[in-house]
Amino acid sequence: MVEQKILGVKGMQDILPEHTPAWQHLEQVIRTVLHNYAYSEIRLPQLERTQLFKRSIGEVTDIVEKEMFTFPDQNGDSLTLRPEGTAGCVRSCVEHSLFRNQQPHKLWYMGPMFRYERPQKGRYRQFHQLGVEAFNFTGPDIDAEQLAMCASLWRKLGLAPMLNLQINSLGDAASRNKYKQELVAYFSGHVAKLDEDCKRRLHTNPLRILDSKNPDMQELIAQAPILLNYLDAESNEHFVGLQQELTNLGIEFTVNPRLVRGLDYYNRSVYEWVTDKLGSQSAVCAGGRYDTLAEMIGGPATPAVGFAMGLERVLLLLQAAELEFKPTLDCYLVCLGDTAEKQRLVLAEKLRAQLPNLALTTHLGDTPFTNLFKKADKSGAKIAFIIGDDELAAGTVSIKHLRADRPQQTIDLSSVHTILGDL
Ligand code: HAM
Repeated sequence: MVEQKILGVKGMQDILPEHTPAWQHLEQVIRTVLHNYAYSEIRLPQLERTQLFKRSIGEVTDIVEKEMFTFPDQNGDSLTLRPEGTAGCVRSCVEHSLFRNQQPHKLWYMGPMFRYERPQKGRYRQFHQLGVEAFNFTGPDIDAEQLAMCASLWRKLGLAPMLNLQINSLGDAASRNKYKQELVAYFSGHVAKLDEDCKRRLHTNPLRILDSKNPDMQELIAQAPILLNYLDAESNEHFVGLQQELTNLGIEFTVNPRLVRGLDYYNRSVYEWVTDKLGSQSAVCAGGRYDTLAEMIGGPATPAVGFAMGLERVLLLLQAAELEFKPTLDCYLVCLGDTAEKQRLVLAEKLRAQLPNLALTTHLGDTPFTNLFKKADKSGAKIAFIIGDDELAAGTVSIKHLRADRPQQTIDLSSVHTILGDL
């Protein structure tokens, strides 16, 4: 009987070996930039109590209403696969008292997040985020520094021309409430023109109406009152300060008064780096301030700001920029002759010990001598090390350049590290 294949779960991607070099390149550039800005890594669980996300992201958000992978554990406790990292990061810092005495922290995390969304290009049910959070910094300078860090990353990745920064301010809770009332009054006057989704949002989360992608809603939304006109004085000062810092840094931005974000914990500055290269999934990196979240989950008052970027979307941009990353194999060891062949694992170990940063492989299993060079060539390696019985006896190795027209040379096995400059 032929068993039926068991397939992966919809929207959860396997990242195959041909794609991992691009991931590794991206992760390495990210780590270098984070180090450059003195951020420290925090590693967090992928499962949290459901209550954490309900309270922080908000009960009436798309994420909590319809996108969470939630299930009871054997004990009956409701757990959720994290749909984002900010809530877990704050939970962890509160739990471990990292915020005591208003200690400043600049933290980052990278890993899978889970949202039950309809999969399409750039949108998956398991996706990866780099998240960056800074705590106990109040001024707009930290917001600007985080945006400078993103800009630096885009430059290092060669993606700067593809990304535009949009910013907005959501003010404090009181000014946002005043604005919400105006918004409800405005949309209530046009209720017949609202689609079902917007009607539902009208009394639960009216700000989200501004985020509607329905083309029929756009004219109505364009005429709606503007949040920036309702900002409290301090938020206004903060927002002006942020714009000044960005200008000083030479970071171009657009103020988008309709930018509201899909999570409820934000206040004051919010921003998104958007692209026109990914169709409807235009947000590559997004974040803002969330100065009240720590208190909302039982911690001390802790000013906070951060962002997260979707790594799959960054990788799609790298593809669109036609930047290629191939798995690399540096060296292939070919052992010819009965004695040398038997020694090939030992010889490979000796070579690896001298070339610890290179990828080196050798033939395994039975391969006829005649096929060995074909194998070495097909492997994609740049260099073949050749050791026959004569070389073995003399303690030497021959080096053949497989991708360059250069003469073969023979050197002492113990001085193989001297070829490093050739690679
Ligand atoms: P978010 O806007 O929900 O914010 O997600 C941030 C980014 O994650 C998005 O801009 C997008 O690039 C990526 N992303 C979201 N959902 C998906 C998906 N289904 N498939 C692929 N990529 C996706 C947050 O998560 C906040 N925690 C950001 C933050 C950190 N705010 C403050 N600190």
